[in-house]
Amino acid sequence: MAPSPFFAPASISVDGLTIRAYRPGDGPALQAALVSSYEHLQPWMLWATPDDTVEAAEARCRRCAANYLLNKDFTLGVWAGDELAGGTGFHLRDGPLEWRSAEIGMWIRGSYAGRGLGTRVLRAMLAWGFEDWGWARLAWHCDVRNIASARVAQKNGPWHARAGPTPLNHNHPNTKRHHDERGLLVADRRSQVTAYCDVR
Ligand SMILES: CC(C)(COP(=O)(O)OP(=O)(O)OC[C@H]1O[C@@H](n2cnc3c(N)ncnc32)[C@H](O)[C@@H]1OP(=O)(O)O)[C@@H](O)C(=O)NCCC(=O)NCCS
Repeated sequence: MAPSPFFAPASISVDGLTIRAYRPGDGPALQAALVSSYEHLQPWMLWATPDDTVEAAEARCRRCAANYLLNKDFTLGVWAGDELAGGTGFHLRDGPLEWRSAEIGMWIRGSYAGRGLGTRVLRAMLAWGFEDWGWARLAWHCDVRNIASARVAQKNGPWHARAGPTPLNHNHPNTKRHHDERGLLVADRRSQVTAYCDVR
C-alpha cells in the first residue's frame, strides 16, 4: 500500500461473486436487501431499519462511493449476479490509512444467511486485502453473543491478539481491554471480541 497516492482496488470477482464498491444507482438493490433482511440484521447491526426508502439507500450508496474515492472508508457490496447478497468493507477504525490497518465489517442478506456465504466472503476479503490492497493488519470485531459472526472468523483463522499498545476505539474511547485465554483481544465494556490477522 503506497501511502500516497493510494488508488483503492475497486472490485474482485471470486467464487461466482463480485465484491465491489457501491455506485450511484445501487440504491434500489441496497434498499431491497436491507428491508428484506431487517429481522436477521437488527440484533447486531444498529443501523438496520425496517422502513428504509430507496432514496435514503441511494444517498447512502453515493456517500459510500464518495468516501471510497477519497480513501476515507471502503464499503463494498457483495453481488450474486444482479442481486445484492450482502455488504462488507475495509473500515479505518484503528487509525489513518497510512497505518495499513483496517477492520472488516460484514452483513449477509437474510435469504443468503447460513449457507456459507459469510465464510466465503471473509476468506476472499482476507486474501484480497493482504495481496492486492496491501493491508498489514486486518481485524474482525464481534459481539461475543454473535455465534455466527464468531464462527465465520474462526473458520478463517488463525487470528491473534494485537502486539504492542492497543489503539483506542474511536466510538468507545473509554473501553478497557485485555487479552483472553485464547489470545483474543477482549473489550470488556462492550462484551466484544476483536481478532487480528497480520499479513501471512
Ligand atoms: C454473521 C454473518 C455475517 C455470517 O454469515 P453467514 O453467511 O450467515 O455464515 P455462514 O453460512 O458462512 O456460517 C458460518 C458458521 O456460522 C454458523 N452459523 C450461521 N448462522 C448461525 C446462527 N444463526 N446461529 C449459530 N450459528 C450460525 C454456521 O453453522 C457456520 O458454522 P459451521 O460451519 O460450523 O456449521 C451473517 O449471518 C450476518 O449477516 N449476520 C447479521 C449481521 C452480523 O452479525 N454481522 C457481523 C458483525 S461482526
